[in-house]
Amino acid sequence: MRTALVTGGAGYVGSVLVRLLLEQAWEVLVVDLGLFGWHGLEDVLDHPNLRVVAADVCHSKASWFDKVDVVFHLAGYSNDPMAAADPQRNYQYNAAGTAMVAQMTREAGVPRFILASSCSVYGYSPHRESTEVDIGRLNFPYAVSKLMAEEAARCWHDSAVILRFGTIYGYSPRMRFDLAVQAMMKSALKTGEIIVRDAERWRPFLHVTDAAYAYEYASRYGRGIYNIPGRNYQIGELAECVASTIKRYGLPRPSIVNLSEYDPRNYRVSDERMRKEWSWLPKLTVEEAMWEMLNRAQRDSSWLDDPRSINVTWLERRDELGVRTEEKPSPPGLGPAGAS
Ligand SMILES: NC(=O)c1ccc[n+]([C@@H]2O[C@H](COP(=O)([O-])OP(=O)(O)OC[C@H]3O[C@@H](n4cnc5c(N)ncnc54)[C@H](O)[C@@H]3O)[C@@H](O)[C@H]2O)c1
Repeated sequence: MRTALVTGGAGYVGSVLVRLLLEQAWEVLVVDLGLFGWHGLEDVLDHPNLRVVAADVCHSKASWFDKVDVVFHLAGYSNDPMAAADPQRNYQYNAAGTAMVAQMTREAGVPRFILASSCSVYGYSPHRESTEVDIGRLNFPYAVSKLMAEEAARCWHDSAVILRFGTIYGYSPRMRFDLAVQAMMKSALKTGEIIVRDAERWRPFLHVTDAAYAYEYASRYGRGIYNIPGRNYQIGELAECVASTIKRYGLPRPSIVNLSEYDPRNYRVSDERMRKEWSWLPKLTVEEAMWEMLNRAQRDSSWLDDPRSINVTWLERRDELGVRTEEKPSPPGLGPAGAS
């Protein structure tokens, strides 16, 4: 049995990854601040192979790393709006937090460190597909903090695996509706419209289940940086795909409103290295993800309105309420906040 430490394991991607690892008989320790609650892990909290600790990775404890085979480091601020709203905490969690986790991984002799990075490090680079050695033009706190995290990972681990993911979509038990596919779908269902700010710009998109499989694969193979972009879309093309899937599903086709606002976060990304070296490749499509999410929305439309599903507005609301640390999760089998 292999043992994993998954930081950020209560998050959108983390809660899918944790389930995959438990299915594959891993022993899993999740460390998470619980910024968006613990509902992502609700139905697995009493799993005998899962422990959850409510804590900040910036205050990592040596005991978390004891006898761990693989550290999957996902914790941190996870998009541009959060980072722009609170750059200080963004740098603290994403850069300093990663440096702490990477250092303690090394000191504990954990053989494998896998970092959740992002294709957003390619910034403005729409003219050709960026490879892992390309450098984009960027000046956004989120992308800068991800580059800093990559550097910290490389400093502490010659064999670190750095996965640069495209923007992720699809159902997770801890849902996010601030990611493009879900945001478009929600807007279409609520208003009959999809608002597109810059139809021309390029972004890669990957299914959340494929992201979880990529982590699992990287726990066994590879070294260095891998782009895991999924498929490159122009945003206007993605909106067309969302609109036509909704129509095929049997609902009214939403209209697409183009605003022609310039957005400098514009990148196309090559997955050539992964295709050459890996025997596993992403399989799932936007259409498949949407079918599942449309089924859920049809069963329970309140699912679309969970206030925790828009990261930046939820954090602002928490700040207004003066909530700095999430209440400890209460179900059995959980460690106390900050404990090992
Ligand atoms: N979702 C995407 O499209 C995407 C794309 C590329 C990369 N990533 C990266 O993948 C990772 C996971 O993304 P996600 O979509 O699941 O985000 P998410 O916001 O749903 O989850 C992040 C989790 O990390 C926890 N966290 C944040 N700061 C922490 C800290 N200091 N200590 C402990 N826990 C902390 C939060 O409580 C949350 O549960 C992030 O590092 C993100 O940058 C995400």
